[in-house]
Amino acid sequence: MKTAIILGTRPEIIKMAPIIRFCENYNKEYFVIHTNQHYSENMDKIFFDELELVQPKYNLGIGSGSHGEMTGRMMIEIEKVLQKENPDIVLVQGDTNTVMAAALVASKIDIKVGHVEAGLRSYDRSMPEEINRIVTDHVSDYLFAPTKRQADILMTEGIEGSKIFTVGNTIVDAVLEGVQIAEQKSKILQTLNLSGDDYILMTAHRPATVDVESNLKVVIGAVSKIAKMHNVRVVFPAHPRTKKMIEKIHITLPQNFTTIDPVGYLDMLMLQKMAVLIATDSGGLQEESCILKKKCIVLRENTERPEAVDVGGCVLVGNSDNERILTSASALIKKDVVWTNPFGDGKSAEKIMKIIANK
Ligand code: UD1
Ligand code: UDP
Repeated sequence: MKTAIILGTRPEIIKMAPIIRFCENYNKEYFVIHTNQHYSENMDKIFFDELELVQPKYNLGIGSGSHGEMTGRMMIEIEKVLQKENPDIVLVQGDTNTVMAAALVASKIDIKVGHVEAGLRSYDRSMPEEINRIVTDHVSDYLFAPTKRQADILMTEGIEGSKIFTVGNTIVDAVLEGVQIAEQKSKILQTLNLSGDDYILMTAHRPATVDVESNLKVVIGAVSKIAKMHNVRVVFPAHPRTKKMIEKIHITLPQNFTTIDPVGYLDMLMLQKMAVLIATDSGGLQEESCILKKKCIVLRENTERPEAVDVGGCVLVGNSDNERILTSASALIKKDVVWTNPFGDGKSAEKIMKIIANK
């Protein structure tokens, strides 16, 4: 059975890595198509290098653009490769434009589609990712739901139960594989002169947070204030979208911010593990906060990962109300959290590949 793994952005590389590694270790017939939606070295190459992944067989060089432009160009180029290679199945992961473009193309030329991380819903259609998730799920043949909640969502949307498999999230595989290596290899704490528990780790890249000037200012101001109240710094690996916006609207970052370029996965795991608190609008970081048992304020009004909130360690604080963010963060910092990890046992990649093989 020939598998095409199609990916394009930072989180897809990280979350597909365990599947790619499984294919390598068990000599499976597979190849990788990289749309290159992410292309800066610290959003792309660093992950292939650190995670020791073989180079993609095809790099489509799509890069950035408007949604239509990007998705259209991806579809044209992916179709050419799939027609040439004729794989039995295409695997995609998550909710980016790359995922939707690949799923649409494959399903229309009658190649089976497996969606890893299926069934997530924020019920907020202003998010481009929500559209991508819905479309991808509804053209997929194998829907790999991380938890029972997503499997139930898919059933209520009318997707046949025989197509849905609850397998956990490959992020658990990635964190468990990465964290011990990070402890040995990462020098980020020394480089930034951190001792641990003396900083808040912040990331932000959603259009609703960073493309709305007032929201970006509110979240930066609020996280800076929380840090001041606890006498710690803010470490802020800034996503390129965010960096661009900060430059465009000439925001001067607060003095207690240490703003750095995006970091590789090992440094990121270390930064998460040793932070006093995480502030983020990232999907992946919400999951990682449960796996690494780290309290997290989610700079959003909603989440497609409610399990993280249910555990009690993640709290939705929005992105527009300074007081709400401060009050919610204070309450979370004081709270005793009984940690559980709802996202699986670290064997999701193996489960996914075995299900495909058996079918
Ligand atoms: C994309 C995904 C989002 C995912 C995120 C992970 C979509 C619609 N969005 O958002 O779901 O959470 O990736 O990080 O698919 N840029 C660079 N270098 C890069 C990549 C981007 O400079 O390597 C800059 C460009 O100015 C680009 C902007 O960042 O226009 C946004 O990139 P884009 O891929 O459109 O969306 P992300 O915000 O990265
Ligand atoms: N990440 C990283 N370096 C960074 C920021 C994030 O390695 O500088 C990792 C993070 O640990 C997580 C993934 O990238 O595994 C999340 O990606 P992102 O927040 O860009 O996308 P999302 O998960 O929101 O789709």
